[in-house]
Amino acid sequence: MSSYHLWTGPILANYNRMNRWSIDVKNLTKAFGSFIAVDNISFKVHKGEIFGFLGPNGAGKSTTIRMLCGILKPTSGDALVAGLPVSVRSEDIKKVIGYMSQKFTLYTDLTVEENIRFYSGIHRLDHTETEKRMERIIRIAGLEGKEHSLAGELSGGWKQRLSLGCAILHDPDILFLDEPTASVDPAARRDFWDLIYLLSEQGTTVFVTSHYMDEVERTHRLAIMYSGKIIALGRPGKLKEEFCSTSSASLEDVFIEAIEREK
Ligand SMILES: Nc1ncnc2c1ncn2[C@@H]1O[C@H](COP(=O)(O)OP(=O)(O)OP(=O)(O)O)[C@@H](O)[C@H]1O
Ligand SMILES: [Mg+2]
Repeated sequence: MSSYHLWTGPILANYNRMNRWSIDVKNLTKAFGSFIAVDNISFKVHKGEIFGFLGPNGAGKSTTIRMLCGILKPTSGDALVAGLPVSVRSEDIKKVIGYMSQKFTLYTDLTVEENIRFYSGIHRLDHTETEKRMERIIRIAGLEGKEHSLAGELSGGWKQRLSLGCAILHDPDILFLDEPTASVDPAARRDFWDLIYLLSEQGTTVFVTSHYMDEVERTHRLAIMYSGKIIALGRPGKLKEEFCSTSSASLEDVFIEAIEREK
């Protein structure tokens, strides 16, 4: 049995005072049959950190996120998310995190407002709180004027905005964003990142995957994942020095070099 299973401390109140790690991953592994999608990875994420996850298609990024969100059970290893072990406390974890999945998962036959209300219900917010947050989320996500549009009829970028709004509705401690800006236009991408910075400044930990190098460049630290393994981890500037011996290299150079070395 993992030592994490023995973790019995009082949850968030003490955790927030005592722990500076939001996420502590130890030897996390996921196998689908004989295929190892996530292969014995370990890393930590600081509170309030913007942590990037970069890697080619199929590297195991979304599978890792789904385990950290308590949606998928690890095959072996474990992780503490907000002090809670994912192997046994997945339901509690879901209360303190926000998750924006790579696929659109909201109700296409509900309007923008109805989707937000639905999420409010899941998080047991009362009527007054829901109305207050509704106004704030619509404003933050830039969805003014689209309140009564069906989610299924929104364009890709607007769907992403609504998904982000629903993911932050309950003020989560940790926010998992899986390719949040795919199909989002450049101006809206900038707005997304302004919001990510704001949330981070307010103490929210943001774990974000992206295939856009300019976005990953803006993270505090990033991990590069390849074939289920983490092959590089550090600040963007440090990784440039480590893999390309110059801070003027691009993260694309780092990405290619890290994968070449691994091959
Ligand atoms: N439920 C599943 N059953 C079988 N294989 C799976 C399952 N989920 C994911 N995989 C496989 O695990 C590997 C990792 O997938 P994952 O979605 O984590 O990759 P990713 O890094 O998020 O890729 P992308 O950049 O394309 O989103 C892939 O080979 C995928 O086919
Ligand atoms: Mg993915």
